[in-house]
Amino acid sequence: MSNASSAASGVMGQTPASRGLWSSRFAFILAATGSAVGLGNIWKFPYITGENGGGAFVLVYLLCIAAVGLPIMMAEVMIGRRGGHSPVNSMRAITKRGKLSPSWRWLAAVGVLAGFLILSFYSVIGGWALSYVGTTATGQLTGQSADQIGAIFSGLLGSPGKLLLWHTVFMALVMLVVARGLRGGLERAVTILMPALFVLLLIMVGYAMTTGYFGEAVAFLFQPDFSKLTTAGVLVAMGHAFFTLSLGMGIMMAYGSYLPKGISIAKTSMAVSVMDTVVALLAGLAIFPIVFANGLEPGAGPGLIFQTLPLAFGQMPMGNLFGTLFFVLLIFAAWTSGISLLEPLVEWLEEQKGMNRTVSTLAAGIACWLLGIASILSLNLWSDFAPLGMFSMFEGKTVFDLLDFLTANILLPLGGLLVAVFAGWFMSREALEDELALAPASFSMWYRTLRYFTPVAVAVVFIYNLV
Ligand code: TRP
Repeated sequence: MSNASSAASGVMGQTPASRGLWSSRFAFILAATGSAVGLGNIWKFPYITGENGGGAFVLVYLLCIAAVGLPIMMAEVMIGRRGGHSPVNSMRAITKRGKLSPSWRWLAAVGVLAGFLILSFYSVIGGWALSYVGTTATGQLTGQSADQIGAIFSGLLGSPGKLLLWHTVFMALVMLVVARGLRGGLERAVTILMPALFVLLLIMVGYAMTTGYFGEAVAFLFQPDFSKLTTAGVLVAMGHAFFTLSLGMGIMMAYGSYLPKGISIAKTSMAVSVMDTVVALLAGLAIFPIVFANGLEPGAGPGLIFQTLPLAFGQMPMGNLFGTLFFVLLIFAAWTSGISLLEPLVEWLEEQKGMNRTVSTLAAGIACWLLGIASILSLNLWSDFAPLGMFSMFEGKTVFDLLDFLTANILLPLGGLLVAVFAGWFMSREALEDELALAPASFSMWYRTLRYFTPVAVAVVFIYNLV
């Protein structure tokens, strides 16, 4: 594990010679899963599923994970291992070797921007989870009705001061780790915390089964009703596949650059994708029975888990304990993801602007924190302010909604599309075969999907939503 942790703490600006490699396939899977599993799985997946009518949306999401996300994850990890540097420099190295246009490195720069924008609102939601640790631990949820639980949540959203406090704490936690490279310790902690989160989700699913509405939730999630699916919903499902797997911004390239040769990129990518998807589906199975049992609205929006799970914690035996533990584990999941969102920007400032690690972390973190304040205000004082509302596509979208939409539904798929085109059409087939080392049939399946299916699927979804 010591090799793994030193590699992990050194994901940042080092010379190629001093770059360690992950000690094992397991260490890579751990880091990549730490990035992938986060608020996207437990907070975002259930609420967008609720908003988009359930089954048909889930089916499209699963298809996107398998046919768009997984091939792109393999491509990103492969580019990272081939390049052996930070994303920008890996792209530079590969384009140089292959005599390709150096402009391709802008691909990695778009990723840096996307990570920055995402973290600004991600940290606000991480703050919600932080505030709920106290709410749960002090027994405020015990025996409360759905209305009372709803009032606790609206109380939080209506208080810019509280939101700012917890947003600040979350950003500080992320910056602390990024600045000091505490990665090693954190990653070791994740070995325990991720399985713990998994077990706790299983307990919640177990509780959800006792509500008598489990069957309805299963039907809601897995019986597709295509009349409920809109073209906008398809875009959300595809965007979420990128968001939840941490794709389209180069983080998997960064992690891939530490993956020793000889370890299967396909198997490891598959493991990460499957774990990520299982966590999201478990979250759905834990939440929707509670929604139906209490007559709540599945399409309640971003507050969904903060209005349903607390209800369960208030009713179940040892609910305070389980609830507190749940929010603590959710914070850890969000923390490891948050770190992977800030890391590329900090690395870029170090490499390109020559700042040292502490200064670049402070600059990036504070800028991100400032932007987060706009998201906080859009939950209360600016809740009617839709900056780009004159375009029908952005009608009624607050700053928070816009940042989410712009990143998950536009920047990440665009980044992923470019990765697919770069790997599928510009890198040499020999290089790809060499890195992936797959059986000919599997290779050609991946190659064809990446060259034809993935780019066309992303492009079609884009075009449908623009016109
Ligand atoms: N995947 C994380 C989640 O589901 C969020 C995240 C972390 C992310 N790093 C990323 C999303 C990079 C896109 C790109 O919560």
